Amino acid sequence: MKYGSRLQIVCLACVAVLFGAHRALGWELSHEEYHAAHLNELINLEEGPKNLLLPFNRTRIPGSEGSRDVQRFIIEHFNTTLAGEWAVETQPFEENGYRFNNLVMTLQNNASEFLVLAAHYDTKIVPTGMVGAIDSAASCAALLYTAQFLTHIARHERANQYSKLDVDPVITGSTLGVKIVFFDGEEAIEEWGPEDSIYGARRLAAQWLADGTMARVRLLLLMDLLGSGEEEPMVPSYYANSHQDYQLLNRIEDDLLFARDDGSTAQSPLAAEVARQRKLLDPTDYRFVGLGYSVVGDDHTPFLAAGVPVLHAIPLPFPSTWHTVQDDFQHLDAAETRHWTLLVCEFVVQSLRFRAQ
Ligand SMILES: *[C@@H]1O[C@H](CO)[C@@H](O)[C@H](O)[C@H]1NC(C)=O
Ligand SMILES: *[C@@H]1O[C@H](CO)[C@@H](O)[C@H](O)[C@H]1NC(C)=O
Ligand SMILES: *[C@@H]1O[C@H](CO)[C@@H](O)[C@H](O)[C@H]1NC(C)=O
Ligand SMILES: [Zn+2]
Repeated sequence: MKYGSRLQIVCLACVAVLFGAHRALGWELSHEEYHAAHLNELINLEEGPKNLLLPFNRTRIPGSEGSRDVQRFIIEHFNTTLAGEWAVETQPFEENGYRFNNLVMTLQNNASEFLVLAAHYDTKIVPTGMVGAIDSAASCAALLYTAQFLTHIARHERANQYSKLDVDPVITGSTLGVKIVFFDGEEAIEEWGPEDSIYGARRLAAQWLADGTMARVRLLLLMDLLGSGEEEPMVPSYYANSHQDYQLLNRIEDDLLFARDDGSTAQSPLAAEVARQRKLLDPTDYRFVGLGYSVVGDDHTPFLAAGVPVLHAIPLPFPSTWHTVQDDFQHLDAAETRHWTLLVCEFVVQSLRFRAQ
């Protein structure tokens, strides 16, 4: 009797664990425990040895010391922290009297096509001292975290290579690879125009057209002006040929925000984090989807011109701090940055899983 009731309690615990696991799936968030353990520590506004956001709290004008230090930080992240999983390429060049350098990271899973995630790391020359927190430090930090997360999964999959339990190898089993691009020279040196802007994007697009990479890009996800914490504006869908991808991202956000509203998982640090969030994507906004042209000039335009589908994660109109000295880390919402980070991580996992070999 006593033993029996204890067994019952044990079994109830089993059910709770299974139920919990099941709900985690319902949440559509892969490797949730990884995020619960790392996301807050890596993406926040307090100094710490692993902080991926604060190293961007400085000006990053092309060719400057700030730019070089940040390049070193990004390369070291891939080359040291994530050692061995990513091919690290740099694309240094000169134009208009400035030295630029694109940083291109490729996850080594022998893919035939690529999902390209990108943001620009440079900052504007004027106003003096502008550190570009939303433009685009937050996006860069989100990509550094995404790379770390994907590395975790890849290593996990390889460690379990011969285990029958590992039925769903997301990264090592996909025909879709991942490239993460940190563009230099997005900002104009003097005045925005076709010859004075997106220096890095124009240069990389030219290289990818020449070497055949462009034809292997399945989608470019470009992040910009994210993390302001302002309620409006939200991010709409811009292009018909990436609208499905926008809907996937939107579904992930819905699952994240609304699938667990019973309050029973409030003890999970991630659940508490997510509970504070609100929608950042607006799937009811169809203003741009059918236009057939870009209303926002940004690093995606040469890739768009080459026929690459583009998912442009940028709010419109732009947040109020855009291109002012107020675009600093005091006006940056770390929680919103973490929200975008989670969306992108899950977006990559689901996109790769969909393309399992
Ligand atoms: C960002 O840098 C400025 C200037 O160095 C500093 O005053 C500020 O405290 C930093 N912000 C954060 C969140 O560390
Ligand atoms: C990254 O590390 C490898 C091995 O240490 C080295 O060969 C390579 O030059 C490094 N790449 C960069 C861009 O620093
Ligand atoms: C990737 O390709 C290289 C050369 O084509 C091959 O040596 C390596 O075994 C492949 N790796 C995987 C994981 O398939
Ligand atoms: Zn800008």
